Amino acid sequence: MKKILIIGGGAMGSAFSIPCLENKNKVTITEPYSKVFIKNLTSKDKFHSALKMKLPKKLNFRKYSKDLLKEKFDLIVIALSLSGIDFIGKELKDLKIKIPILVLTKGLKYEKKKGKILTISEKLNKEFKIKDISILKGPCLAKELAKKNQTSVIIANKNVNKAKKLGNMISTKYYLIEYSKDTVGVEISSAIKNIYAMIIGAGQSLNAASNLFQKSIVEMKYLIKFFKGDVETILGLAGIGDLYVSAAGGRNSKMGSYLGKGFKFEIAKKRFMAKDTVEGEQLVQEIAPFVLKKIDKKKIPLMINLIKTIKDNKKLNIKV
Ligand SMILES: NC(=O)c1ccc[n+]([C@@H]2O[C@H](COP(=O)([O-])OP(=O)(O)OC[C@H]3O[C@@H](n4cnc5c(N)ncnc54)[C@H](O)[C@@H]3O)[C@@H](O)[C@H]2O)c1
Repeated sequence: MKKILIIGGGAMGSAFSIPCLENKNKVTITEPYSKVFIKNLTSKDKFHSALKMKLPKKLNFRKYSKDLLKEKFDLIVIALSLSGIDFIGKELKDLKIKIPILVLTKGLKYEKKKGKILTISEKLNKEFKIKDISILKGPCLAKELAKKNQTSVIIANKNVNKAKKLGNMISTKYYLIEYSKDTVGVEISSAIKNIYAMIIGAGQSLNAASNLFQKSIVEMKYLIKFFKGDVETILGLAGIGDLYVSAAGGRNSKMGSYLGKGFKFEIAKKRFMAKDTVEGEQLVQEIAPFVLKKIDKKKIPLMINLIKTIKDNKKLNIKV
């Protein structure tokens, strides 16, 4: 039995606790940010408002504090959204934690001063000096995992044995783990798929969406190579696997469908998705300055078009 601390009691952090508990670990969850999730996790029946189900009684909730991070855990899992990465990086920075950290968060960070895009693990390592980082990505809808539907994900670490050790700690009959050494490729694919899911969602028929799917793969392949990942990773769970699930359903493709119908981004957000986080939009805001300056626009016309749609509030101008 290992002791696991999950930071982030949102949909994914909470769903992730289920296979961890099933694998006979002692699982503690903490929530540093959202009053709603704290309320959910401390309620008597542990009903989670995002997952729309009760969480296991064995799941232990602890109030978030920096001291909690110093306690003896065998694994710390980061399940915050991208906007929480700077926060948790700063919190972990001076603690010189030696235990493994597993990051579920998807996204990329733009370092304005250095004019560079960093993956989340690079950011945590370079800026916040966190050492032993593995990443877990792939096609996983939190609600489905929470219901114990079969789910396959990928853990990446340059030292693949470390990834396998973590996989053994958390896998179950329904939560299947694959492994990769290509941390860059896995992080890049799992982030940009949110942008391409929006683009595919803009297709107003299956025929049109399939065309956009194929063109998206070509652009994703180019981008993985640009950031020095392994192009083969596009064929894996963090690439087309995750793109499929995000394009088939979810908030990014829903926003894409409005853009494809001719709505401008700001109108669509306000009118139809005011309360929703659209991760693809957040990623566009983060990486647009870099992409527009440093990447050959002719190689990624779909992404450039979506950037203009979101940043300049223009109509999407792709053939849908
Ligand atoms: N690796 C996987 O298998 C997998 C699967 C699904 C989602 N995800 C990723 O997990 C992350 C969380 O997704 P979710 O569905 O749980 O989202 P959610 O909105 O349900 O939860 C977001 C979490 O981030 C925290 N948070 C938000 N803003 C914050 C801030 N400014 N500072 C600190 N904390 C903040 C929230 O309090 C909450 O704990 C996303 O990056 C998502 O892409 C990963």
